[in-house]
Amino acid sequence: MERLDKVLANLGYGSRKDVKKIIKSGAVEVDNVIVKDNNMQIDPYKSIVKVDGEEISYKKYIYLMMNKPDGVISATFDDYEKTVIDLLGEEHKAFEPFPVGRLDKDTVGLLLLTNDGDLNHRLISPKWHVDKIYYAKINAPLNEEDVKAFEEGIVLDDGYKCMPGKLEIIKSDENESEVKVTIQEGKYHQVKRMFESLEKKVVYLKRLTFGGLNLDENLDEGRYRELTDMEISFLKNICKMN
Ligand code: URA
Repeated sequence: MERLDKVLANLGYGSRKDVKKIIKSGAVEVDNVIVKDNNMQIDPYKSIVKVDGEEISYKKYIYLMMNKPDGVISATFDDYEKTVIDLLGEEHKAFEPFPVGRLDKDTVGLLLLTNDGDLNHRLISPKWHVDKIYYAKINAPLNEEDVKAFEEGIVLDDGYKCMPGKLEIIKSDENESEVKVTIQEGKYHQVKRMFESLEKKVVYLKRLTFGGLNLDENLDEGRYRELTDMEISFLKNICKMN
């Protein structure tokens, strides 16, 4: 249940103060009864709300960008572990979003969540060559041979040959290196397993970019925001959904 003034403010009818005035003026009906109490609790998905006689519709799809923190799993429900859905406010949980692909429990960074099954399906399909860019710290030095191995396609422990990936070495010394990795697939533990094939270990992994959308730097870990209309169109465009 939500407060009537909050529902209308969320739908863009102005600030809470503006909305209060609209309600007090008698322009708002809930289930065909004029309501002048802005504190009224309504179920925005079930109640029929009209403003100036026009029925308002709550949107069907939601698209969120989260900066996933460490220690939280990319699932919708789990008996024991905290999930990314547990980090959402009730107003967003109500849409029943799910993560687009998965990040490991200890991976941080950009995670998209939506309830738009068609877009989700396309974004995780390798068919559309959606780039994912990761920043990683590795427990060993790296060199041009490793860059070439990524270009040629790393063979994972189960024999699967990855599509060509891009490895950019940001920094490398005898103990550790920092890299950017661009891949288009999303196999289970893919980045970690790619480095394991080179006998190296990923000690920190953060996703920076998904399909050309960069992680919003203003989002602290554990925070999220809705995508803008432009960002949604951009994502739909890259997988030819428009
Ligand atoms: N690759 C991984 O190994 N883990 C992730 O979370 C994402 C990509």
